[in-house]
Amino acid sequence: MLWTVRLCLLLAASSSGVPLDRYSTKGQHKVLLISFDGFRWDYDRNVDTPNLDTMAKDGVKARYVTPPYLTITSPTHFTLLTGRYIENHGVIHNMWFNITTSEKLPYYATQFKNEWWDNGTLPIWITAQRQKMMSTWFSEMDLDFVSLYFGEPDSTGHKYGPDSPERREMVKQVDRTVGYIRSLAEQNGLADSLNIIITADHGMSNVYRNGLVKEITLSRIPGFAFRDIAFHLVDFGPSGMLLPKKGMLDKVYDALKGAHPHLHVFKKEEMPKRLHFATASYPSFSSLTLDMSSTGWFLPVQFNAGEHGFDNEEMDMKPFFRAVGPACQKNLEVGPFETVNIYPLMCHILGIKPDPNCGHLDATKHMLVSATEGKFISVLLLIVVSGILTLQRPSWITWYR
Ligand SMILES: *[C@@H]1O[C@H](CO)[C@@H](O)[C@H](O)[C@H]1NC(C)=O
Ligand SMILES: *[C@@H]1O[C@H](CO)[C@@H](O)[C@H](O)[C@H]1NC(C)=O
Ligand SMILES: [Zn+2]
Repeated sequence: MLWTVRLCLLLAASSSGVPLDRYSTKGQHKVLLISFDGFRWDYDRNVDTPNLDTMAKDGVKARYVTPPYLTITSPTHFTLLTGRYIENHGVIHNMWFNITTSEKLPYYATQFKNEWWDNGTLPIWITAQRQKMMSTWFSEMDLDFVSLYFGEPDSTGHKYGPDSPERREMVKQVDRTVGYIRSLAEQNGLADSLNIIITADHGMSNVYRNGLVKEITLSRIPGFAFRDIAFHLVDFGPSGMLLPKKGMLDKVYDALKGAHPHLHVFKKEEMPKRLHFATASYPSFSSLTLDMSSTGWFLPVQFNAGEHGFDNEEMDMKPFFRAVGPACQKNLEVGPFETVNIYPLMCHILGIKPDPNCGHLDATKHMLVSATEGKFISVLLLIVVSGILTLQRPSWITWYR
């Protein structure tokens, strides 16, 4: 992960001022994937979003999409980029951890732990590179795949809650940013070659309901004691993972099972198959997974106004999805599909052979105008820009101009 970030910063720095059309000399099938973290499927309903509305008219809008479980940022993004469920790509949490030493790294620091991401599953930019590019990366800079990440409206959703005026204001900013990106693409002659896919990693749910936080405090559950636990990840509100000490599994399980109507406790083999979260890559961890059975219930660990991480069947956890470009139908609203299917869609548009994945092109191909043929792809780039979205001129956009 680290090298991609470094490379992108380098490129961003070195190429500002170069006109975009220099990058667009060949290829009909470019893809720009943009993730607006935590953009819930219905966020445009009570906000004026002229640019997102225009994008829907010019392209495809899904009613909503279903992220993989656990509905938190890093695991769900890695699903977008690999087409695999979390149990299959192995990035099971936002946090890197070591169960022997009990070390944990926070979200941001984890992004720089190469081994956390490099567990045998290839993200789309590596696949594309292996099949064509790299050699001409700097010589031609004819980018075919660019991925952008914004930390909003997730941050605002956490801080003020999904129903707040602040969140609505942030959605307006996202909308203006979408308009800006599309107008730049057009001005630079990319309208006929660039496909823009906009989606998110998960949704957001209210923590405060009628002024109250509904919490489940593990330490108050009779028979449960943290001293029986060798390692735990209960740092993210609605879900948690516990590794009981040797011989303590059944004791901990029995204490938690049935302790609260909104607390679900699963042994690894009991995890519902539909969640695809048996954590196959981590045989020694997550002996027990805790899940709050419905939105609105939390482990009292952090005190945000909005939270995610719930069951991916909860409507509050569903992200939005838009796609526009020469490969896409126009003015088409499609039904929901799982975000695991976005990877094969992108590979298809780019004309590369997908690596083994859990998605199916059948789930999305009705959005495409016709079978798009593979084209020569010369260069690919990933840009990961974390942090806050800035109004008007996000700093990452400098390389575009
Ligand atoms: C965890 O830490 C132990 C002790 O330092 C080390 O031996 C082990 O390799 C580490 N495991 C991982 C997955 O980093
Ligand atoms: C993925 O990570 C797990 C847990 O650290 C490890 O046991 C496994 O060998 C890794 N797989 C690959 C292909 O690196
Ligand atoms: Zn997120």
